[in-house]
Amino acid sequence: MSAPRMAVSAGGLGLKNPVLAASGTFGYGQEYAPYLDPGAIGGLVTKGLSLRPRPGNPPPRIVETAGGMLNAIGLANLGLDEFLETKLPWLARQQTAVVVNLYGESQEEFAELAARLSQAPGVAALELNVSCPNVKAGGMAFGCDPGAVGRVTRAAVAAAGQVPVWVKLTPNVADPTPMALAAAEAGAAAVCLINTLLGLAIDAQRRRPVLANVVGGLSGPAIKPVGLRMVWQAARALRQSHPQVDVVGIGGIMSGVDAAEYLIAGARAVQVGTANFARPGAAGRVAAELEAFCREQGLADVSELVGALKC
Ligand SMILES: Cc1cc2nc3c(=O)[nH]c(=O)nc-3n(C[C@H](O)[C@H](O)[C@H](O)COP(=O)(O)O)c2cc1C
Repeated sequence: MSAPRMAVSAGGLGLKNPVLAASGTFGYGQEYAPYLDPGAIGGLVTKGLSLRPRPGNPPPRIVETAGGMLNAIGLANLGLDEFLETKLPWLARQQTAVVVNLYGESQEEFAELAARLSQAPGVAALELNVSCPNVKAGGMAFGCDPGAVGRVTRAAVAAAGQVPVWVKLTPNVADPTPMALAAAEAGAAAVCLINTLLGLAIDAQRRRPVLANVVGGLSGPAIKPVGLRMVWQAARALRQSHPQVDVVGIGGIMSGVDAAEYLIAGARAVQVGTANFARPGAAGRVAAELEAFCREQGLADVSELVGALKC
């Protein structure tokens, strides 16, 4: 039997396979080059970028938990100018799609980042992290309010011109569907979910939180059932009203079968996050295992899995 077709079209991009590395877990790509040729995966999403550099939260910023980890990095990053000058040139030479994750403290900052990044050569798509606080609205996360998701997305889409805009949604809501629909209505090419779940780790002896920030974001295998459920909910809603908008599945993917589960739930592509910390070549391995799964299943095309859930 011939090899299954692994190339997919997702979020306005043609990807060589449906597996990307997730934002914040793969640095700016170059750090991982000794372990994984970026050309082996469909794409990589860079660490969340802001207009100005940010040092992030004080340590400790990471702690291992049962089946996962909790992080409170605080969106540390080197800022837009430094990224364009020192990181993007290397990324642009790789044989993979470069998706730049970004966040602003206001709608205007999202738009400014989108405008400047979309003109930079080598940026395939933008991913808006709407889990960050809206400073002008008293710090409430944009991503918990469909109106704010719609406004931020519309502003970024207008600023980004031809470059597709993906919107990364937070799981810290009861139902992600209103946010997915708001992003789709505002012109997003894809919605990506899930980001991390808010959690707390406690050191019982010291009666203290483990993280200096007290709370952090939970990721890893422990969150996969939540991610699958939210992808399924968003994909089902979008299929009805915005079939051109794709879902990108994220959360606890450690293997090719995990990735297949997300495709079956309705995702067109997936991102691998925490697994990169356990094994720096994890995303490449997930892509290879997904191909092996398709072969075992006798599939001619990986896209046959998309939305194949029977229920
Ligand atoms: C240390 C760390 C840093 C992260 N930084 C970002 C970020 O800057 N922007 C963002 O949108 N998501 C960020 N994430 C969320 C991941 O991209 C991903 O959505 C989440 O971890 C769930 O996937 P996983 O279970 O495979 O890790 C970060 C996650 C971790 C663990």
